[in-house]
Amino acid sequence: MAYSCALVTGATSGIGRSFAELLPSSTNLVLTGRAEDRLLELKDALSRDGRQVETIAADLAEQEGRVRVIAAAEAANVDLLINNAGLGRFGVFVENPAPLEREMVEVNVVAPVVLTRSLLPNMITRAEVSGQRAGVIVLSSVAGFQALPFFGTYAATKSFDLLFAEALSAELADSLVDVLALCPGATRTEFFNRANLADSAMPYMIDADTVARRGLSALGKRTIEVTDPVRRTMMAPSLAFRALKRAVTTMVMRRLGN
Ligand SMILES: NC(=O)c1ccc[n+]([C@@H]2O[C@H](COP(=O)([O-])OP(=O)(O)OC[C@H]3O[C@@H](n4cnc5c(N)ncnc54)[C@H](OP(=O)(O)O)[C@@H]3O)[C@@H](O)[C@H]2O)c1
Repeated sequence: MAYSCALVTGATSGIGRSFAELLPSSTNLVLTGRAEDRLLELKDALSRDGRQVETIAADLAEQEGRVRVIAAAEAANVDLLINNAGLGRFGVFVENPAPLEREMVEVNVVAPVVLTRSLLPNMITRAEVSGQRAGVIVLSSVAGFQALPFFGTYAATKSFDLLFAEALSAELADSLVDVLALCPGATRTEFFNRANLADSAMPYMIDADTVARRGLSALGKRTIEVTDPVRRTMMAPSLAFRALKRAVTTMVMRRLGN
């Protein structure tokens, strides 16, 4: 794992903050989120050993914010893109605030697509020139494997993230860019509180550092990483079958192109 610069979205708390803290000081950082005070505190804590840490306060639900993040990441020559920012909202769909339903789609779906599409061409080129592997991590969730009533839009966005990362990983299989769909189970962060969910109802929760560590070590080895140990064991056969289906589908889809 020798990335020269990582962009971490949603770095101000939870899993994103853990990614920022766990990356070695040889990796420069571009950190983003909306909370400017938290970004500055992170910059202070993580600027060491000559490492460059750039922070951009930006709302990823807005195209203007996404454009500023992309410009900073391009200027910093990122070779690791961690699409981590995300939010959920528990509740009855027709009663949930419409702007929040939209924000979930903008941040969880539109932002990873727009950021990845914008940054990937130069990431591929730089990897080819340097011979150093690059990486893309997309935060999905175990919620992405099934429909979740009262959490429907969130689960659908995480399902999108999963399918998007899987397809991208297959398309880039012959390149020097690895792609991972990281699928945490319930993780101790600010997510539950912000989503109007009671974390006390969860049988157990994982800590954010464990999730980020598993993500970094799975990148380049697997396409999907389920971080919840119980679910990982239960899902092993279906994940193996899914990998087989992905390989067959990739061959079929390659033949369909003109
Ligand atoms: N916690 C879990 O149980 C769990 C399980 C599976 C998957 N995940 C996924 O893990 C990822 C990280 O979540 P977390 O658990 O670490 O939650 P968290 O502690 O609430 O962190 C969410 C991060 O996303 C950023 N964010 C939210 N809305 C944003 C917006 N409009 N523009 C820019 N940044 C925004 C937040 O930054 P600001 O508030 O500063 O903007 C924050 O840094 C999410 O994609 C989530 O879906 C979490």
